[in-house]
Amino acid sequence: MPDTMLRLFFALWPEPATRAAIAPLARDVGRETGGCAIAADNVHMTLAFLGEQPAEIVPKLCAMAAAVELSAFRLAFDEVDCWRKTGIAWLGASETPPTLAALHGGLARALASLGIALEARPFAPHLTLARRIATTVQRRLPQPVVWNVTSFVLVASEFDRSGARYRVLETWPSML
Ligand code: 2AM
Repeated sequence: MPDTMLRLFFALWPEPATRAAIAPLARDVGRETGGCAIAADNVHMTLAFLGEQPAEIVPKLCAMAAAVELSAFRLAFDEVDCWRKTGIAWLGASETPPTLAALHGGLARALASLGIALEARPFAPHLTLARRIATTVQRRLPQPVVWNVTSFVLVASEFDRSGARYRVLETWPSML
């Protein structure tokens, strides 16, 4: 019998205040672009997308992630931009904190040791605000949305009639 498969990814998962700050921006950008705004509960930033994996790999991923060090850092989102090809409008930071790049690199190396290769293209940190956009958007935010990142998570993506739903499987806090 085949294993149960899970669509998995590591992500930064905002705490309620950051989520509450981003949700109205997603609604505005969705309206402005004719796209479909991300549901407030789904707001996240992907660190590493693993795709479909057998469920039995989850304990191994958890043990691996526990050894990846995270120092808390501040992410200042100050730009809204889009990718026409994929039809995504996103929120980004004009300056990528070195800690974010280090976290992504640490996860990528640890995943490679488990035989899971990530996409070869460079890490493009972004937080999706809206999908299937009809018109483009690009602007600086007058006031950045500041996210104090103190943990990362492993998430399973599930689909139902209302679209994608994300289930946090495990959380790893930053070091003090
Ligand atoms: P996106 O927001 O740019 O679509 C769950 O699908 C998360 O994994 C999303 O944040 C998605 O990014 C990200 N992701 C990265 N690579 C992906 C891929 N090849 N297919 C689907 N989602 C991917």
